[in-house]
Amino acid sequence: MKAARIHRFGQPDVIVIDDLPRPVPGAGQVLIRIVAAGVGPWDALIREQKSVVNASLPLTLGSDLSGIVEAVNPDVTQFKAGDQVYGVTNPQFIGAYAEYALASAKMIARKPRSLDFTLAASVPVVAVTAWQMLFEYAQAKSGQSVLIHGAGGNVGGYAVQFACQAGLHVFATASSADTKYVRDLGAETVIDYNAVRFEDSVPPVDVVLDMVGGNTRDRSLRIIKPGGILVSVVSDRMHENPPGNVRFVFFLVEVTSERLDKITDLFNQGKLTARVGTILPLEQVRAAHQMLGGAPHKPGKIVLQI
Ligand SMILES: NC(=O)c1ccc[n+]([C@@H]2O[C@H](COP(=O)([O-])OP(=O)(O)OC[C@H]3O[C@@H](n4cnc5c(N)ncnc54)[C@H](OP(=O)(O)O)[C@@H]3O)[C@@H](O)[C@H]2O)c1
Repeated sequence: MKAARIHRFGQPDVIVIDDLPRPVPGAGQVLIRIVAAGVGPWDALIREQKSVVNASLPLTLGSDLSGIVEAVNPDVTQFKAGDQVYGVTNPQFIGAYAEYALASAKMIARKPRSLDFTLAASVPVVAVTAWQMLFEYAQAKSGQSVLIHGAGGNVGGYAVQFACQAGLHVFATASSADTKYVRDLGAETVIDYNAVRFEDSVPPVDVVLDMVGGNTRDRSLRIIKPGGILVSVVSDRMHENPPGNVRFVFFLVEVTSERLDKITDLFNQGKLTARVGTILPLEQVRAAHQMLGGAPHKPGKIVLQI
């Protein structure tokens, strides 16, 4: 089978297509014939050896997937050959850019009926990240206010949708190209981060969700209400200490079947939309990673069709 691998860390040109034997599912694993694989910023961090997740070489890149179950280990009872699934491979976030991949049965779920395989592969990491930020770490409730940084991005788009549906007052930052998109998702106030300092137009909020980091995150500390929380998925290092009455949390997403099932239900009820941008064949995986690094691409998630 073909797999997009790296034998050394570095720029996108370290990625090569290798021919490998098809893997056999071990304990708790499912073998999936991959139809599509999502491409995300964390794949580039792994390729550059900048990820907080340790992975040893050589490795197959990719974690987000959709496909059809080919075989299961005998200890797996919740899936069978032929099931249409989506999810991620494993806690190392590797292995999905391939014709076949092993996945932990606890990290996949049945694909939403309303999504084709390409759309489904765009969902798992970013939607579950947004879900965990808002509902598990921030414990956000109806009537509270939230500022979502990077709302035009892939995690941000889900954060805006979840927050609006949960009855929060949603303030969002995005580039000018994405302000209409974010407003259409339901955000009350969308700030073009290149034109306006968000501190000048956002009132004190209960929750800040950070998909941007750096200076943007540090400045956000000043507009959080006492008792409020800043949840970041970008880095665990703050340059400024939060005031004593504001909590700060960084976490790594945990994609589980249970969380995916909740997201599947929302898609099947027509309450969520997925946004896929550029779609490329596996052979163009280097181009996909150049897009992660800033090369032009369509807005939305980059997806490889296998
Ligand atoms: N810890 C975890 O488990 C976890 C999980 C998922 C993602 N992440 C991380 O979360 C981050 C976001 O992921 P993603 O997939 O959503 O990336 P993405 O799709 O590239 O979204 C990032 C968004 O931030 C916008 N942006 C850049 N600078 C900004 C600023 N100063 N103010 C407001 N918005 C700004 C970008 O807009 P323009 O490009 O138009 O400027 C883009 O729309 C990445 O760093 C990723 O690695 C972490």
